[in-house]
Amino acid sequence: MIIQKGKEETHWCVYHVRTLRIESSTHLIMENITDETTSYPALFSVLVLLNYLNKNYSFLISTLSVKFLAAGASILFIYFFAKLWTTGRREQGLPPGPPVTPVVGNALQFPTGFPHIRFTEWAYTYGPIISVKILNRTIIVLTDPEAVKAILDGQGALTGNRPRSYIIQRVTDGLYMALEDMHTPVWKHNRKAIHSFMSPSQLEAYLPKQRVEYVHFLHDILTQPQDIYTHIRRTTASVMTTLLYGKRCFQWSGSDAEIFYEGAKLFNNVTDPGAHPPIDLFWPLKYVPYVERWGWAKWKPLCDTTKNVRDALYIRLLEECEERLKSGRAVGCYIEAILNNQADLGMTRDEICGLGTVLMDAGADTTASYLQNFVISLLQSPESQRKAQKEIDSVVGGDRFPVLADFKRLPYIKALVKEVFRFRPIFPVGLPHVTTEDIACKGHHIPRDSIIFMNIWGIYHHPDYFDEPETFKPERYLNNPHGTKKGVNTTGFRDNLPFGAGRMLNTMNLLWAFNFAKDKSGTGNWDIDAYAGPGLELTPLPFTCTITPRDEKRVNLIKQSFEYNGESI
Ligand code: HEM
Repeated sequence: MIIQKGKEETHWCVYHVRTLRIESSTHLIMENITDETTSYPALFSVLVLLNYLNKNYSFLISTLSVKFLAAGASILFIYFFAKLWTTGRREQGLPPGPPVTPVVGNALQFPTGFPHIRFTEWAYTYGPIISVKILNRTIIVLTDPEAVKAILDGQGALTGNRPRSYIIQRVTDGLYMALEDMHTPVWKHNRKAIHSFMSPSQLEAYLPKQRVEYVHFLHDILTQPQDIYTHIRRTTASVMTTLLYGKRCFQWSGSDAEIFYEGAKLFNNVTDPGAHPPIDLFWPLKYVPYVERWGWAKWKPLCDTTKNVRDALYIRLLEECEERLKSGRAVGCYIEAILNNQADLGMTRDEICGLGTVLMDAGADTTASYLQNFVISLLQSPESQRKAQKEIDSVVGGDRFPVLADFKRLPYIKALVKEVFRFRPIFPVGLPHVTTEDIACKGHHIPRDSIIFMNIWGIYHHPDYFDEPETFKPERYLNNPHGTKKGVNTTGFRDNLPFGAGRMLNTMNLLWAFNFAKDKSGTGNWDIDAYAGPGLELTPLPFTCTITPRDEKRVNLIKQSFEYNGESI
């Protein structure tokens, strides 16, 4: 999963750009108690102090000269208005962007959902590197592969942190490494644990378990094709619970898979950038009480429910691993390995629990969204489905399941997988990064504490890079690994295909086993309103379609393998 690149290491997936320098320390308008904004709390504190002195030590105040107080008040007044005057303005040297309104900056235009759409409009109007102001905070949006490479890869040690969020901290207790800064012990310990126990060869050892799960998946589709959406979710969650906790989810209802997705949905709502008051910009908001009747501070019960649902699941799963280890019934899963090496890794029990949470979210939810998009692409592009099936029939035939080694002999299917990633990227604006120092890029100044988004959607849909970017066309990847049009400088492009074994096997299996067609429900399309809004992940909404097995031979193979595997782990 991790590709070694000289001194730097990059996660195998195009999105995993938190480039890590080995020796270095390393969603969402998040906590913004920066140098600049601390002036408001400071000012507020001075006013509170004056008020207190006035109430309790008025005898003292009365002895101070009226002139002195008047001068002090004037200084505060001037300071406050000078601050207000510069707030929301685009400083010199920043990249261009939409016009700002004094004080609020671009807050009124900032998207509350599907940020990639507005970011892309802005990029096409103001340029590939733009700045957006929210009060004093600078947000940089990169719709330029070269700039992404230069800033997020090349200067990863200065751009690898995450924006702080009071709301997210309240739910995660600072234990969710994917949203933590690179210098925190949590991030470093988690990173080491992932690195030590999730190498490609260690993951390969899990493949037989994954295969069992994929046969279960095909059998589910065979018996209840109308529930394809849920089958995908159950399968991806079950693969991850098996890999991490040595426990399968045999059915959806009442299983850990269902609880996982309930928690993931709540967490997406928590991390939705536009859904909550800007507590990180104006800290007194955190003291507003929850009043249901008036709709005040609704984020408080949301955080509590999210925390309860997720903590209960992950603490229980961890306890099950601990119990097995204690009673000598270990099954050889990832968390057992971490527990066995807890001292060497220097991890606390809470950190191990948090690591499981991150990996479940990262592995199950993203893969489910990808597979749902893949099925939608087969519905929307029957021609691509036909070509892919012709290819798999010529390489695999109908007498056996596809195996991993087949993938490299299936160039069209590989291109199809890549085109699905391009057409509907799962994280259209990635996850936000934060600069820890001032940096420069292509003549622009990017100040310390800026939030950086990489506009993956904008890049993949840009007519300068792709011919007919709004047309689904796997063929674009057949002659060019980046799918770009002729003459494009591709040095900033990474291969967009995360070659996870699971995704390869699942896509091949689906094409091998079934024919997919639109049904009368009108669902299963990729219009923007067919996707769920909250959070930064682009998740297809539930859909149905017509699914028919390709022939009796394949049906029998699925049934026999399913019975043979039984409930094995
Ligand atoms: C379709 C599949 C996937 C997509 C689209 C995806 C996307 C992403 C994105 C956008 C990030 C943030 C990267 C950044 O800001 O630099 C991320 C981080 C991460 N992903 Fe993935 N991911 C996928 C699969 C997986 C899988 C299968 C795993 C492991 C089981 C995984 C583990 C992680 C971890 C641990 C992080 C946090 C890294 C960090 O913050 O330093 N991901 N992923």
